[in-house]
Amino acid sequence: MKKIIIAIDGYSSTGKSTIAKRLARELGYVYVDTGAMYRAVTLFAMEKGLLDGEEPDRKNLIRKLDTISIRFVPNADLGYAETYLNGTNVEEEIRSMEVSNRVSAIAAIPEVRHKLVEEQRKMGEEKGIVMDGRDIGTVVFPDAELKLFMTASPEIRASRRYKELLGKGKKVTYEAVLKNVIDRDYIDSHRKDSPLIKAPDAIELDNTDMGKDEQFERIYNHALRMINKKK
Ligand code: DC
Repeated sequence: MKKIIIAIDGYSSTGKSTIAKRLARELGYVYVDTGAMYRAVTLFAMEKGLLDGEEPDRKNLIRKLDTISIRFVPNADLGYAETYLNGTNVEEEIRSMEVSNRVSAIAAIPEVRHKLVEEQRKMGEEKGIVMDGRDIGTVVFPDAELKLFMTASPEIRASRRYKELLGKGKKVTYEAVLKNVIDRDYIDSHRKDSPLIKAPDAIELDNTDMGKDEQFERIYNHALRMINKKK
């Protein structure tokens, strides 16, 4: 059976990764979380003291980009791949609020995007991939066979994220999470390089009032239709 590329873009905390992981599992495809890659670069910048103030030290970060290696290593127990930064498992650290609050500034740097987009395109060479992010259908794979654009109200997204962080034992307030969601949406949609926009041929899915199973069924049916078209 022919394989396709599935691009899932949308605002933060719209459930992109949950849907993408399930889709990849059902189809036997590879799942790639590109947000994790921007988060790993952000963690690197924090560890190297390149993000101490409000503004990242762009010059020195760009100079060090070649020394950053990001890999996804499958974890059979978890059922998905974990993110490694220069050989260290950083899956948990990259999800912290400290990283979340700084990642949009790092993701706005064109040289960072260039490096990561190149790596993402390589991962999709064989197709059979589900990739989620902000610019997958517009920049990384403009010819992807299936493009989805996910949205939901900021309040519902913040409340889902808040519950998820509480479940992981993190100390956060709903207000801080909502602010982070709104701030990131703004920076991600207004940056000069590859802003978050819906590709004209993407299918938009507002899941404010939609359960996970209903969403999955809809998307899975779209995927099967596109795969059958390819045969
Ligand atoms: O999907 P996420 O919330 O883990 O992504 C973290 C940040 O990375 C998000 O605020 C925007 C940025 N990002 C991006 O600019 N382009 C992508 N393809 C994926 C994420």
